Amino acid sequence: MCGIVAATASREVAEILMEGLRRLEYRGYDSAGLALISNKAALQMRRRKGKVKELEMALSHQPLTGFNGIAHTRWATHGEPSELNAHPHTSGGRVAVVHNGIIENHESLRNELKEKNYKFSSDTDTEVIAHLLHYYLEKHGKSLSEALRASVLQLEGAFALSAIDIAHPNQIVASRRDSPLVIGVGIGEYFIASDQLALRQVTDRFIYLEENDTVLVAPDFLEVRNAQEVVVERKITQITSSPEENMLGSYSHFMQKEIFEQPKALHATLAATNDSESAGLFSPEIEKTFDIIKAVQIVACGTSYHAGLVARYWFEELAGIPCQVEIASEFRYRQRVTQPATLLITVSQSGETADTLAALRGIGSAEFVASLAISNVDNSTLVRESDLVFLTKAGAEVGVASTKAFTTQLASLLAITLALGRRNGMHEDQEQEISSALDSLPDTISGVLKMDSQIRDLSAKFTRRKNALFLGRGVYYPVAMEGALKLKEISYIHAEAYAAGELKHGPLALVDEDMPIVAIAPADQLLEKLRSNLEEVRARGGQLCVFADPDSGLESSADLLVLMMPDCADYIKPIVYTVALQLLAYYVALNKGTDVDKPRNLAKSVTVE
Ligand code: G6P
Repeated sequence: MCGIVAATASREVAEILMEGLRRLEYRGYDSAGLALISNKAALQMRRRKGKVKELEMALSHQPLTGFNGIAHTRWATHGEPSELNAHPHTSGGRVAVVHNGIIENHESLRNELKEKNYKFSSDTDTEVIAHLLHYYLEKHGKSLSEALRASVLQLEGAFALSAIDIAHPNQIVASRRDSPLVIGVGIGEYFIASDQLALRQVTDRFIYLEENDTVLVAPDFLEVRNAQEVVVERKITQITSSPEENMLGSYSHFMQKEIFEQPKALHATLAATNDSESAGLFSPEIEKTFDIIKAVQIVACGTSYHAGLVARYWFEELAGIPCQVEIASEFRYRQRVTQPATLLITVSQSGETADTLAALRGIGSAEFVASLAISNVDNSTLVRESDLVFLTKAGAEVGVASTKAFTTQLASLLAITLALGRRNGMHEDQEQEISSALDSLPDTISGVLKMDSQIRDLSAKFTRRKNALFLGRGVYYPVAMEGALKLKEISYIHAEAYAAGELKHGPLALVDEDMPIVAIAPADQLLEKLRSNLEEVRARGGQLCVFADPDSGLESSADLLVLMMPDCADYIKPIVYTVALQLLAYYVALNKGTDVDKPRNLAKSVTVE
């Protein structure tokens, strides 16, 4: 949802800003721009519609220089993607602003500013911030940091923003409310970004800003003020992960790299669940909470919501714990009745998804026993604001379509199932079986990855199709939902998932020889039922691709293609089958030539409602 990067140094910063934008492009890629204050204190700006590489081309023809600047990659909310709506937005030829979020009262501010003779050149909500800053600087003679504080007091809604002013050529100001923002601490230089990933090439030391903080930085100066405008010290955190972690290496796409990293990511996540020393994983506080809870409510969005849906089957079937799962954007606005002794679990790769955060912030004071965040990003807002934290160890995920984050969420949720089951009468043998199944997971996933060329061949059947159906039963229904989501996100093929038993209640009407149908058919107690559903499809000419267990008894024929999955314990099959569906979506998108890592209209981190 838009990426911000800013730098103030005693060296040229244009390339630092551009590298930051390349790394932040997963947050939005409708347009990009940067503004620099030249060494003669002039404001220079370049903006381009489209991806960061368009801006890069513009800069290669007409480079910009300067030691102080801000940059932005946009995911349009107010105003179509265009050069005029691209950030930075300026006022009076002196102030430039970049912003992530939505200013909800932008219309009334716009009218007030128009009365003060400010002219607007874009359709964005952001432009009001530039004019507000200008107004306080010029008409009230405030300093840049004072002007920022006066301006943010007038803003309603969510924002992370950063601004420069030619009258303060070494300074950058920034502030955040409900949108992430970090400060990168260099030696004699400071950086600001929506995500630390943007700055890993220049520093490994970060300050995570809190709600309504305002910041002033110059090359050798840092001042953070809290919501009450009091100067505060914020802790500097040193990051240990390698700055190369988010480089493509020998892979063609981040999604491909992240699919293939799953054995390693799962291994790291499972190792952490077994290691009592590691921060937050099965901490004594989590153990104590698990002792007293009687029910679970999971809240999440997108792929993370699908992880919750899978977990519901595990919690109820294996641990005997009642579990509800809800999309965060629905949960937050609904009058709810919560069972006593319920644990709230939020699931979010980024830990910054606006609706998930709002759901957490909107719970009643005594509604839940505690809130537990399952997230992949330490120091994310969700992690900081939850009572308990369970960190997945997927490593940085760059591809917009989530892959390794999802499977590590599932592994974490299965480990939690085990912990809850132990307290709820799970038989020792079953406990042992689940535990060994989890241990075998990384190797089993390596087995699925060996199906790469087989799945690539299968993908050809989908390339020219407009629609696809995904079928599953039981715990494989949400797996089918995730398979359909992956396909639609990156290949733009309309894909729907159905619980196979529902086929005859509507979707069967869509089935003909142009409709490929993916079925997930492990050999479980529902296999016979699923086989009947598959026959219903066959009888109507549907083209079936079935992912099945070696002992499912299914065989390929003219209208039925069966792909045999590696043999493994039932408990981990939802994770194992998911990886095959990820590969399928990846290859279909590749065949279609879509932008796999940055699918149109989407963003990885959705920090607006
Ligand atoms: C976006 C991403 C999805 C992700 C969802 C929830 O829609 O494109 O991949 O599943 O947000 O994100 P979260 O960070 O909360 O898991």
